[in-house]
Amino acid sequence: MKSILIIDDDALIRKTLAAHLAKQGFEVRAAEDGESGLAAAAEAAPDVVLCDIRLPDIDGLEVLGRLKESGHPAAVVIMTAYDDMKTTVEAVKRGAFEYLVKPLDYVALDLTVDKAFQVRALEEKVSYLVQERSKEYQIDNIIGRSAPMREVFKLIGSVAGTRTNVLIQGESGTGKELVAKAIHYNSPLRDEPFIVINCSAIQDTLLESELFGHVKGAFTDAHCETKGKFEIAGRGALFLDEIGDVSPGLQSKLLRVIETRDFMKVGGEKVLKTEARIIAATNHSLRSLIESGKFREDLYYRLKVVEIQLPSLRDRKEDIPDLVAYLLEKINRELRKNVRKVPAEVMKWLTEMSWKGNVRELENALTRAVILAKGDVVLKENLPLDSEDRKLFARALTSLEEVEKEYIGYVLSSVKGSKTRASQILQISRPTLDKKIKDYGLEVG
Ligand SMILES: Nc1ncnc2c1ncn2[C@@H]1O[C@H](COP(=O)(O)OP(=O)(O)OP(=O)(O)O)[C@@H](O)[C@H]1O
Ligand SMILES: [Mg+2]
Repeated sequence: MKSILIIDDDALIRKTLAAHLAKQGFEVRAAEDGESGLAAAAEAAPDVVLCDIRLPDIDGLEVLGRLKESGHPAAVVIMTAYDDMKTTVEAVKRGAFEYLVKPLDYVALDLTVDKAFQVRALEEKVSYLVQERSKEYQIDNIIGRSAPMREVFKLIGSVAGTRTNVLIQGESGTGKELVAKAIHYNSPLRDEPFIVINCSAIQDTLLESELFGHVKGAFTDAHCETKGKFEIAGRGALFLDEIGDVSPGLQSKLLRVIETRDFMKVGGEKVLKTEARIIAATNHSLRSLIESGKFREDLYYRLKVVEIQLPSLRDRKEDIPDLVAYLLEKINRELRKNVRKVPAEVMKWLTEMSWKGNVRELENALTRAVILAKGDVVLKENLPLDSEDRKLFARALTSLEEVEKEYIGYVLSSVKGSKTRASQILQISRPTLDKKIKDYGLEVG
C-alpha cells in the first residue's frame, strides 16, 4: 500500500492532512517533531514524507538532510508558512522533491503527491533493473578455469576498484564486451552508465558527434543540440569497441580528451569535462597497426594503462565442457527448451573444433542445435559439420523454404533479434525480412 508520513507540529494540520490523504487510499502516519518523524520514517519506510520546516526540535531541512544521508528512498516534500528563497534553494540542494507553501493548496498537494509516487515507482524499477543487470555481469558468468582465464580474472579483480583506462584485446567472440561489463559492474560506480560505442560501425564524422555531441547547426543535419557518449557516460564507463578502426583525425581528438579530460561538442565552443573511465577493445593487434602507421602510439599507451589479453578458445580447450554446460543452460532458458544432454562423442567433437569465432561461434552452434533438437539431446547432426562448412546445414534433404526459414531463425538468434543486423547479414531489405519473419511465424528476440 502507498504510504505517506506527515511531520508537522501543528495538530490541526496533521489531522486534516491525514484525513485528506487517507480518504484517497493512502496509508498515513504522522509525527509531531523531527526526531520522532525520523524514527517513524526508519520504521515504516514511507514512500513520501511531507515535512514542515519549523519543528520544535530539529528543523525540516535537517530532517531532510538526515533522511537523504541515510539513503532513505522516500520523496521528501517540504512544507512551510514562510516562502523564502533561501530555504527553497537549501531544500532543493538537500534533495527535496518539492516545496509547498502553507496554507496548503490541496490541488497542488495532490498533484505533488501523485508525481512523487510516480517518480518513486520509476526509481524502484530502475534500481531493480540495475541490480538485475549487475547480476548478469557477475564474474561467475565468465566461464573459465584455464590458466590464461585465471590471469584474466585476476586483472578484472584488480582493475574493477580503480578508475584506470583498460584495453581489452582478443579475437572476435572471445568475450571482450563481457569482460568490459564485468569490470564496470563490479566497480564502485556500477550504478553509473555503461555506454557502448562501436567505432567501426559508424562513419567518421558521425562517430565524432556520437562521441562528443554536437551543437545545433554544426552540420547540415544538426537540427538540434545533442549530448555525446562522453557526456552521457557521466562518471560511468565508456566502452570504445573496435578502437583500431578509429581514423587518425579522431585518434588525436580522443588522445586530447584522455589527457586533459576536456572536450567540445562538434561546432561548439564551450569546454566540457568528462569523468568517464575508458575501456577500449579491439580484435586487431594495435602493435601492428602502430607499426604500419595506422594507430597513434601515444594513444595506445594512454588506453592500455591496464591491458587484458583474452585467450582464443583454441588456447583454452579445457574450458569447453564448462562453457558448453553454461551456454546450454543460458540458451535453454532463453528459448524455453530443455536440451541439456551432450553425448560424450559430441562433447569430444566440440572440444576438438577450431572455433575461429571463439565463444560466440560455440554459442551460435549450440543455439542452432537446441533449436533443431527434437528431444533433449544435443545431436552432432544439428551442429555445423566442419569449420569450412559451418554456415550450411548438415541435415537430411529438405525444401529450400524449410532451409530458408531455419537459416533466418538462426541468423536472428545469432544477432540477438537485431533485425537491422540480420537484414545486413542476409543481404535482404528490412521489409523483406519483416515479411519473411511474418510468413514463417518466426519469433524474434
Ligand atoms: N568466458 C565466457 N563465459 C561465458 N560466456 C562467454 C565467455 N566469453 C564470451 N562469452 C559469450 O560469447 C558471446 C560473445 O562475447 P562478446 O560479445 O563479449 O565477445 P567480443 O570479444 O566482444 O566479440 P567481437 O570481437 O566479435 O565483438 C557473448 O554472448 C558472451 O556472453
Ligand atoms: Mg564485441
